Amino acid sequence: MTKTSNAMWGGRFAAGPDAIMEAINASIGFDKRLAAQDIAGSRAHAAMLAATGIVSDSDAEAMREGLLTVLSEIEEGRFEFSTALEDIHMNVEARLKEVIGEPAGRLHTGRSRNDQVATDFKLWVRDQLDAAEAGLVALIQALLAQAETGADWVMPGFTHLQTAQPVTWGHHMMAYVEMFGRDLSRVRDARARMNECPLGAAALAGTSFPIDREMTAQALGFDRPAANSLDAVSDRDFALEFLSAASICAMHLSRFAEELVIWSSAQFRFVVLSDRFSTGSSIMPQKKNPDAAELIRAKVGRIFGANVGLMTVMKGLPLAYSKDMQEDKEQVFDAADNLMLALAAMEGMVRDMAPQREALEGAAGAGFSTATDLADWLVRVLGMPFREAHHVTGALVAKAEAKGCDLPELSLAEMQEVHGEITQAVYDVLGVHNSVASRMSYGGTAPAQVRAQIARWKEVLA
Ligand code: ARG
Repeated sequence: MTKTSNAMWGGRFAAGPDAIMEAINASIGFDKRLAAQDIAGSRAHAAMLAATGIVSDSDAEAMREGLLTVLSEIEEGRFEFSTALEDIHMNVEARLKEVIGEPAGRLHTGRSRNDQVATDFKLWVRDQLDAAEAGLVALIQALLAQAETGADWVMPGFTHLQTAQPVTWGHHMMAYVEMFGRDLSRVRDARARMNECPLGAAALAGTSFPIDREMTAQALGFDRPAANSLDAVSDRDFALEFLSAASICAMHLSRFAEELVIWSSAQFRFVVLSDRFSTGSSIMPQKKNPDAAELIRAKVGRIFGANVGLMTVMKGLPLAYSKDMQEDKEQVFDAADNLMLALAAMEGMVRDMAPQREALEGAAGAGFSTATDLADWLVRVLGMPFREAHHVTGALVAKAEAKGCDLPELSLAEMQEVHGEITQAVYDVLGVHNSVASRMSYGGTAPAQVRAQIARWKEVLA
């Protein structure tokens, strides 16, 4: 038994699709998320069809009203989606026919599902870029508040995860402000570049109807209509720019999440995460786990996956539209959902977390972290070449290591055994507070530099 052919495009078909064909072809299971965008696009198109005299005012009015009825049915969960109708575009149009009758059949004049889906998806991605922008601004503000609290708190700075030199807590927080600030500018760039309207490109070649593409572009908040109809229906680089900006942002989130996991461990105790963003263990009563940070770190996988996935879908496609492009949506939906969740979770964690000033300071001096300050002192005060100073300092570190103490705990006599000209004044640079305060080069870790950057960022965001 064969089903009857498709009411939307089945004129040349004698039989309906096989069940498997229907299953592989249908996108309604996921593209129903584009309902609001689809209806906004259709309403703009209907108004334009009337303004250009392609359809009557009364038909356009019926379409525009009917589309609102369909939208409220969908929003209120009263809409019955049909797999036989393939996708959101045909589901909406078929229902519109039931609601308003014959005028519904004129809505698809001068357009195609190809420009329709490109428009819907662009509108959806544009909303995500806006949501990512808001999420990033909130996260940056939370980081600025942390930086301000501890602008002059000292902590170890690491390279190779080995103690390197003391830095300030504020400086470390501000490093992430710079990273998320670049993510913010990537998101804004992507939005500015993508904001051209595909609607009116029709199937691929444009249309012979006297449509007004400026009008629909403007109605949908686009800066202008896309200038080449083949390109307009066949590229998804706007979604790829979103995914690549999302991937870089997720990578930044993941690095920070990794630090929070390390810092909240019993071995570090640099921060205490709030109960609101931690979980317990069902067997070990003492545990408080940084699950939100771990999940942020893990979610990066699916966001990278979406980026590579859609790149791969697109890379072999000849112009213009191919059905392969229907596979653009689920990956982008999933990446967007998880990026927004990760941004919000990170913002909450950062707002709530309590940096442990004493533990940070206690760790700041460990591991000979002021050895570079000592070498610099030998250069500055004794006029030693840096290479020689490096060598002398290395000998002092070895001496301290042998004695099992840190550099400031070596006596002056012990220092002078290594180099006779060292004086009492050297101890001034061996303290972690003096060390960070001395790093006044632009962008350095000195509290005064950090405060200047906090002030600059507040101005940028205001
Ligand atoms: N569901 C389709 C998609 O997501 C809509 C466009 C279909 N166009 C076509 N010529 N079959 O890409």
